[in-house]
Amino acid sequence: MAKTTDRIALDQWYAVETSADLGTATIRTRLLGQDILLHRSNAGEPVIREEHDRTPGPRLPWRERYGCVWTTLGESNGEIFDIIEAAEDDRRFVPCGWVKMRASGLRVVENFLDMAHFPFVHTDILGSEPHTEVPAYLSEIRRDVDEVWATNCTFFQPRIAATESEGAFVHLTYRVPSPFVVMLYRVCPSAPERLDAIALFIQPMEEDLCRAQPVMYLVDQFSTHTDLLKFEQIIFLQDRIIVENQRPLLLPLEPRREIPTRADTSSVAYRRWLKEKGLRFGTTAGTG
Ligand SMILES: [Fe+2]
Repeated sequence: MAKTTDRIALDQWYAVETSADLGTATIRTRLLGQDILLHRSNAGEPVIREEHDRTPGPRLPWRERYGCVWTTLGESNGEIFDIIEAAEDDRRFVPCGWVKMRASGLRVVENFLDMAHFPFVHTDILGSEPHTEVPAYLSEIRRDVDEVWATNCTFFQPRIAATESEGAFVHLTYRVPSPFVVMLYRVCPSAPERLDAIALFIQPMEEDLCRAQPVMYLVDQFSTHTDLLKFEQIIFLQDRIIVENQRPLLLPLEPRREIPTRADTSSVAYRRWLKEKGLRFGTTAGTG
């Protein structure tokens, strides 16, 4: 496919590489149906360009935040959202690596928001039978910040973090700060007055192809880096199977195309928000 004409999608910032993995050798990847080239200059700056007919175009805007290199193909109207936990010195920063998925990036966000699949997909880790009920929670579009939030979420989890082996009700808050980014705040098991922050950065390559990287800011003095990585990677590979098997691969925004249940209110708010924005890339409305 060719570069999208969807203005809303073009104007977003996207994480397109892990900072530590960007060197002076040129990397070619895809963003919104467009080839892009990236490398790091001798001065250490990311250099990112579109490529048309094997010819590099002018430099694109770039940022380095949250351990990743970000760019936009449009007019970035504003800065990348804030993750205040990223500035706290005592946190463990754990970038978990990219996973490529044959699905719309919007489907990946929606799956991340969904608690109902925990017992069936992440059995004996994030959920277990018979604890399958999703207690009522609140979802809203926050107009002042233009984000979707789901608050007051609780769920019974047999093993809520790498440090834990006992089951408990976890308290979760979900945040969608931009259409292709989703975050989870979890009451930290080893420091209950603080929240672990986990973000999922999605690089929409084509309408039905993306790669995603979980990035975690954790309060955890006990686990090894490998344990933290393994815990998240197992969960994420389980999600990949589910997301790739959803049909259609693109996200429907029309109400009633898929019947929501009470557990899905965050998904309903997310779809309504995308529809209000007029986003088409990655939806069944399509953009070409
Ligand atoms: Fe999942």
